[in-house]
Amino acid sequence: MKDHLKENIRFVMKTEMLSGDGIARELPKYLKNYAWNRIGLVVDKGVYDHCPYVKEIIGICQKELEHVTLFVNEMPEPTYDHLDQSKAGFQDVALDCFVGIGGGSTLDLTKGLATLKTNEGAAINYRGFGKVKNMPLPVVALPTTAGTGSEVTPYAVFIDTAAKWKFGINTEYNYPRLAVYDPQFLSSCPMKVFASAGMDAMTHTLESFVARNATFISRMFSRQAFKLLFENLNKLAQGDMSTPVKLNLLIGSGCAGAALMNAGAGPAGALSYPLGVYFDIPHGLAGSVFLPGVIKHNVAHEYYEYAELYDLVSDGHGLSPKEKSIKFADAIEALSHALGIPTDLKGFGVKTESDLMLIVDNSAQLKAAFDQNPVKFGQDEIKAVVFSLR
Ligand SMILES: [Fe+2]
Repeated sequence: MKDHLKENIRFVMKTEMLSGDGIARELPKYLKNYAWNRIGLVVDKGVYDHCPYVKEIIGICQKELEHVTLFVNEMPEPTYDHLDQSKAGFQDVALDCFVGIGGGSTLDLTKGLATLKTNEGAAINYRGFGKVKNMPLPVVALPTTAGTGSEVTPYAVFIDTAAKWKFGINTEYNYPRLAVYDPQFLSSCPMKVFASAGMDAMTHTLESFVARNATFISRMFSRQAFKLLFENLNKLAQGDMSTPVKLNLLIGSGCAGAALMNAGAGPAGALSYPLGVYFDIPHGLAGSVFLPGVIKHNVAHEYYEYAELYDLVSDGHGLSPKEKSIKFADAIEALSHALGIPTDLKGFGVKTESDLMLIVDNSAQLKAAFDQNPVKFGQDEIKAVVFSLR
């Protein structure tokens, strides 16, 4: 971790956060605070079909705002081509902002559309860092899963089908201006999605906590996110899908996202990329399968700072940091298990040695994330963790 008394640190948080049960009903009021009256509204298809509350919010926006262009996103893992096709419906209308209601992919798509509204040409032109020249339209994000943290980060990730890889449109301009945490959106969220998204957030908070670039400030977010996520995911595993659990998970995943974008990612999050691209595994599920293995690897290599997190949720009186860290690794594995997250790769169709090597070999380009791990995590370590999950 960077020492703030000896090194310069930077912590960025540019998103206004709103939270509350039913607060999305007041969305037009908050939009009008910014003089945004004409919106491009991007809604995830699954939520649109199964969550009556979303239709209520769309109706409120249509009634109280000057103009709404609605787009229902059917693609769970959007490609750059899909982004180009999706922008057609927004081209000839004057808009003040884009509003996204959905999981991470739909929120990313919303950021992409906001970028293309003010930047001409094909979406692929903006792949990479700093390619966006004109300020995108403002983005408002209403997450319907408690997981990705996309509502507070500027990243918008799409699959480049030609390069067979996921790449972001990464620009400092794309921080959502508003994030709205309303547990009513999670009312129709299937348990499986709930659990995998929650463990995605858990991956963000744990990897950001231990990341070499973590700071005094980012760790405040990691710690609080961990406590919220650990306690409420354990309640969820026991069947508690109450409003407080949903709200705590939403805020926990937002804080985890803020920690991640400031401190950096780690091996489990990075390894989710090849699993997503080559085996079509949703990001949430893909990252969490690697998490217990990465933690155990770190503890086995004498990294014991997990003890601090253990103390936040357990009575570790009389235990050494090593003993607490070992118990911590077991607790995260047990939580994954209780939530029904697959604990090996077979369940994802990764069965043969060449399947496993596809993940290992395509990890090289994720070196920046592996280098953030507090103990060495090179090719040998990647292979060991991946093959331990066969
Ligand atoms: Fe993630």
